[in-house]
Amino acid sequence: MNFENIIVSQKENIAIVTINRPTKLNALNKKTIEELHVAFSTLESDAHVKAIIITGSGEKAFVAGADISEFANFNMVEGTELARQGQKILFDFVQNLSTPVIAAVNGFALGGGLELAMAAHFRVASNNAKMGLPEVSLGVIPGYGGTQRLPQLVGKGKAMEMIMTAGMISAEEAKEWGLVNYVMEQEELLPFCEKLASKISRNSSIAIAAAIRAINANYTNCVNGFAVEIEQFGLSFDTSDFKEGTTAFLEKRKPDFA
Ligand code: COA
Repeated sequence: MNFENIIVSQKENIAIVTINRPTKLNALNKKTIEELHVAFSTLESDAHVKAIIITGSGEKAFVAGADISEFANFNMVEGTELARQGQKILFDFVQNLSTPVIAAVNGFALGGGLELAMAAHFRVASNNAKMGLPEVSLGVIPGYGGTQRLPQLVGKGKAMEMIMTAGMISAEEAKEWGLVNYVMEQEELLPFCEKLASKISRNSSIAIAAAIRAINANYTNCVNGFAVEIEQFGLSFDTSDFKEGTTAFLEKRKPDFA
């Protein structure tokens, strides 16, 4: 896959998507968002890809936000469309992928950058990472899901504080607050995420996709997550992975999933 603003590489069955605009601290402009959509769609439809890691290029930033220069002159209609389209093709899209997505937060994750990390299925940060939703300092609010996903991850009070103060928190604070699962030395960040992805890749991708659907159901309005869990649990019984997983257990061997 050839792109202008992102790099997609693959190590065995793990894909690494790197946002590559280091001189702009990997800020998300329209082109980058569109390229990410194409990359994620392509990787999702590749059965060989068992997990995706998303990160930023350079040592300074994961993503320092949406590209402010692109929307500074927008009016209300354009602003609404910016958020609607971005949520549809990137942020909700990533959250609802069947392939697990790990955000390797390697520096500033601000505004749309933190929103992208939060749309991923979980996050690991380097110890120099700084996270925040500074939108109100620009006279706008988070528009790529930040007002919804941040309270889900850190609770309403901390989310209110982070959004109202527009401040940044450290990687250690983010871990304490449940926003990231681990904090690593910068050079260890990608190898550690690759290890996690590799562990994930040994499990049933059909069952993982079903688990993502059931977990996400809890965060979807008017959907009963328990009912979705029952449905997805039942559907598992009809899959080849279920036959292989249970047979392998009974035969005292490791499963070999498709
Ligand atoms: N949109 C567009 N360009 C951005 C950007 C963004 N969100 N974040 C950084 N950049 C650009 C800067 O304009 C600068 O470009 P230039 O060299 O052409 O002037 C380049 O990236 C480097 O950023 P700079 O501000 O010089 O780095 P710094 O180390 O002094 O500060 C930050 C780093 C992250 C604190 C600062 O860049 C910042 O506050 N960025 C905006 C964060 C934000 O508000 N994000 C939410 C957007 S909704």
